Amino acid sequence: METLAVKPAIKVAALCGSLRKGSFNRGLLRSAIQLSKESVNGMEIEYLDISPLPMLNTDLEVNGTFPPVVEAFRQKILQADSVLFASPEYNFSVTGPLKNAIDWASRPPNCWADKAAAIVSAGGSFGGGRAQYHLRQIGVYLDLHFINKPEFYLNAFAPPAKFDSDGNLIDPPSKERLKEVLLSLLAFTLRLKGRGPHLRRLFWGYRCKTPQAINGHFSKRKLNCSTFSLRENGGCSMAHRFCEDRNSLAVNRFTGPRSTRPCSK
Ligand SMILES: Cc1cc2nc3c(=O)[nH]c(=O)nc-3n(C[C@H](O)[C@H](O)[C@H](O)COP(=O)(O)O)c2cc1C
Repeated sequence: METLAVKPAIKVAALCGSLRKGSFNRGLLRSAIQLSKESVNGMEIEYLDISPLPMLNTDLEVNGTFPPVVEAFRQKILQADSVLFASPEYNFSVTGPLKNAIDWASRPPNCWADKAAAIVSAGGSFGGGRAQYHLRQIGVYLDLHFINKPEFYLNAFAPPAKFDSDGNLIDPPSKERLKEVLLSLLAFTLRLKGRGPHLRRLFWGYRCKTPQAINGHFSKRKLNCSTFSLRENGGCSMAHRFCEDRNSLAVNRFTGPRSTRPCSK
């Protein structure tokens, strides 16, 4: 199939909760990367190997610094616009390695905040669906924003065969469903970043206003202002994000407008 030569619009970090060599879940990510190159315009997926991360131990944090391998991982998450999780189900929940990676990148400042995310899984009878709901719950605290639909969970053991012996996805209908997940993640990421056509129109003219003014405006219009609430510790708010290329200001919710600082993004 012809590869689309288009500048990537969004960067996606892809994480797999299984460390197994022939992992079906990592096979889903390989397939997603292939699909993104062939038939999803505007998305670049980078697989991040979580296996070198040490078990979380805050004693490893020295004067606010992390072990190099952890720091490199955190930077990759920070640089990504969104996250694609391939999450196997271990005992009805997410795997230990995946939780460990999530916890490392959650250490302050939280690297996950305000990113769009999607989950895919392959497993036993429910295809890992129960782990997906635990992962969504974890995302609540982290301010990760998961797409709701389509859901992708795959029974890896039911015939016909979905994976080959190396863990590669070989089932065309599953590939088609996987592509739908990527398209949904792409659209939602662009919306969150204020680059969707609807939001661009809505935000035009707000670029120099404070986030409070924007919140006030949306209150009056009875729109959902929580989308525009400000983040602790100067993290990116929606208001911050849509101004990101326009040298605007971010506001620390705890210290108020006086703590406005130049947008660093
Ligand atoms: C410790 C452990 C617990 C498991 N628990 C579940 C489970 O609760 N539900 C399920 O569907 N599969 C469960 N499985 C089976 C995995 O879903 C299956 O091994 C799957 O292939 C793992 O993903 P991977 O192929 O990406 O490594 C478990 C496997 C292990 C090793």
